[in-house]
Amino acid sequence: MRWRSYFVLILFAAGLTSCQKEKTDVSVRKSENIALIPQVKYLKTTDLKPFLWDNETQIFAPENLKAEAEYLQKIFQECLYGENEILKPSSHSNDKEGVYLRLDKQLKPEAYRLEIQGQQINIEAGSAEGTIRAIQSLRQLMVSAFHKGMKREVWALPSLRIEDQPAFSHRGLLLDVCRHFFDIDVLKKYVDLLAFYKMNVLHLHLTEDQAWRMEIDAYPRLHQEAAYRIKANGERYGGYYTKKQLRELVAYAEERHITIIPEIELPGHAQAALSAYPQFSCLGAQAQIEVANDWGVFKEIYCAGNDETFQFLETILSEVMEVFPSKYIHIGGDEAPKFRWEHCAKCQARMEAETLSDEHELQSYFIKRIEAFLNSKGRQLIGWDEILEGGLSPNATVQSWRGMEGGISAARSNHGVIMSPTSHCYLDYGLERIDLQKIYNFDPIPEELSAEEAGFILGGECNMWTEHVPNEKNLDQKINPRMQGLAEVLWSYPVDRDFENFYQRIQRHYPMLEAFGVNYGPETLPATIYAEVYMDSGKVFIGAKRNLQTLDFKVLFNEKEGPWGFDLKESGILKAMAFKGKKPYGDTIEQEFTYHAALAKKANYVTSYEKWYSAGGEVALVNGTRGSLNFRDGQWQGFSGFNAEVIIDLGASQSIQSVSSNFYHYNNAWIFRPEAYRVWYSNDAKNWRSMGFQKPELLPEERGQHIITLKVEQKIEARYIKVLAENIENVPDWHEAAGSEAWIFIDEIVVENGI
Ligand code: ACM
Ligand code: ZN
Repeated sequence: MRWRSYFVLILFAAGLTSCQKEKTDVSVRKSENIALIPQVKYLKTTDLKPFLWDNETQIFAPENLKAEAEYLQKIFQECLYGENEILKPSSHSNDKEGVYLRLDKQLKPEAYRLEIQGQQINIEAGSAEGTIRAIQSLRQLMVSAFHKGMKREVWALPSLRIEDQPAFSHRGLLLDVCRHFFDIDVLKKYVDLLAFYKMNVLHLHLTEDQAWRMEIDAYPRLHQEAAYRIKANGERYGGYYTKKQLRELVAYAEERHITIIPEIELPGHAQAALSAYPQFSCLGAQAQIEVANDWGVFKEIYCAGNDETFQFLETILSEVMEVFPSKYIHIGGDEAPKFRWEHCAKCQARMEAETLSDEHELQSYFIKRIEAFLNSKGRQLIGWDEILEGGLSPNATVQSWRGMEGGISAARSNHGVIMSPTSHCYLDYGLERIDLQKIYNFDPIPEELSAEEAGFILGGECNMWTEHVPNEKNLDQKINPRMQGLAEVLWSYPVDRDFENFYQRIQRHYPMLEAFGVNYGPETLPATIYAEVYMDSGKVFIGAKRNLQTLDFKVLFNEKEGPWGFDLKESGILKAMAFKGKKPYGDTIEQEFTYHAALAKKANYVTSYEKWYSAGGEVALVNGTRGSLNFRDGQWQGFSGFNAEVIIDLGASQSIQSVSSNFYHYNNAWIFRPEAYRVWYSNDAKNWRSMGFQKPELLPEERGQHIITLKVEQKIEARYIKVLAENIENVPDWHEAAGSEAWIFIDEIVVENGI
């Protein structure tokens, strides 16, 4: 270390002298008030005097930490009165009061030690990155006292020692800026937030069926045309980032040691690009392709049989790499329906020429070719776990989203893995599926892996898809505070994690988030409505359960205030409302119940429901609980690719007048209402007679989210009822995801007794 290369930053405030500093009343925050997120590995407070940071505080740093010193200076200047700053070279003096930044090559790159005591703050880190992480800890020591726009003459920082390093090297947030567009300033805000929580990757999802968001010189129609979709009301919606803006964003992120990984989706999720350049689709130059204005998976994908497609993509990727210096380039690879490839002469010719046995191998060929190009430019490829299908490219890193299985298989074949399974890491999912505690309990290392295999797990990301996130406020509510939960999962070691403790700390961060202009959302659903099924008594007990003890609650059934739990004796809607003080906390929780003759009766499944949509398993269709317009509400039982067929045993023969069920229809998500609803009855479960059937009026083509009721009416006497909902089976040819398995979603089998 050469002392001569040190420089010092001094902040001078007009008219502020050290005498005033002595007089300033500063309250030192006690160790129990320290609320660092993510939790640090080692923290010990001492009884020494606090460090008083004011406009005269000097920062000493070697030349190679100059940028970090300037960043630190800028941050504190935002919280102190006075504007003047003087940056001048200075000889180092180890005993002067001030803040010292140093490198210690013995430490891992992101590891650091932070020591605060009366006269000095010492930061030693393995690299400039580690220095920035340490600076975030320093910043967070002000958390609880920080209010919007608040400045002080002096900040008192408690005497302490911190030793810290991350558990995982890849700690990211995926931001989908395609389904909805967010200004570059919103991206900067998130870069700041990532830095504050010691995350290190912003995964920018730049291309989609619904938009292309990056300026591309060689193919200007991408940003001029493909950046816009026409909404149902005729409005042209969209926007794009210029290269200048993106370069500024990259520089802003680099200042904070955040890497921006751009994602350019291929071969699927490419309809916007193909609307501007249809010659690279399987349908050819004359095809009429629109930028999608709907959500789902679309069948217009890049033609794999056309060499010009690869030239097009390589030119684009070259421009992308000029702007984004990241080691990794994400190429998507997920959800590419093979329908067009199956029907394209060029793609079929490619398969023959390359002796590829199916379209999955053709996808693998596609990705490998792109990987070879990226590798030739010194970059590494990341793709979603579908890139495992048909054979993984030699150097690819896999981002596992359809559960952990893709990640497990990639790690076992010695490929790097980023974990972001839908079970824990999808921030577009509601709190009923993924709340703060759920994401906090995420373990990126699957139990199945050996220690050596686990070494291939680089870390994880939380994924913010924005189909239903139209604006910044919404975005903030979805991301925060769940992202902070994942930040702790990825940085802190499991022994140092404790949800209750984290929960207390995050409360202390809310003022700081407000200061950042973040509209954070609730941590969890304040209450849960549940149903307990008692087969022996044939009863269903329903109730509301508090999830947050600190709130006030009101419970209503059919708008009458009532008890927290009771036997279901009439149909109705149960509501739970939570209040923090006088203000509502989160939305009202609602659940519709139907009282009927098959409640808590035995359901025998002829066909099986899927585990992802079990809706509570074998009682799902006889628990009185109805599904809502949110198809992930946990009440819809899903059958994929085949019929739903279930027999109900009512226990004794009885008079019945109708049997009905609700079905969900949302073909964007491959969920179709049944082709027909058929009901039979029997007294011995062997000899069946038809009670009738109903076909829906709603057509399979119908867009949007619908709940339809199908009902069969006839006066009969029977003990057994058999219901069959006919699955359309394959997503039809007109659909974007033609050929995929279709879902049936059913919520209940409602049996009404005759009079
Ligand atoms: C994904 O959620 N389709 C990666
Ligand atoms: Zn083709």
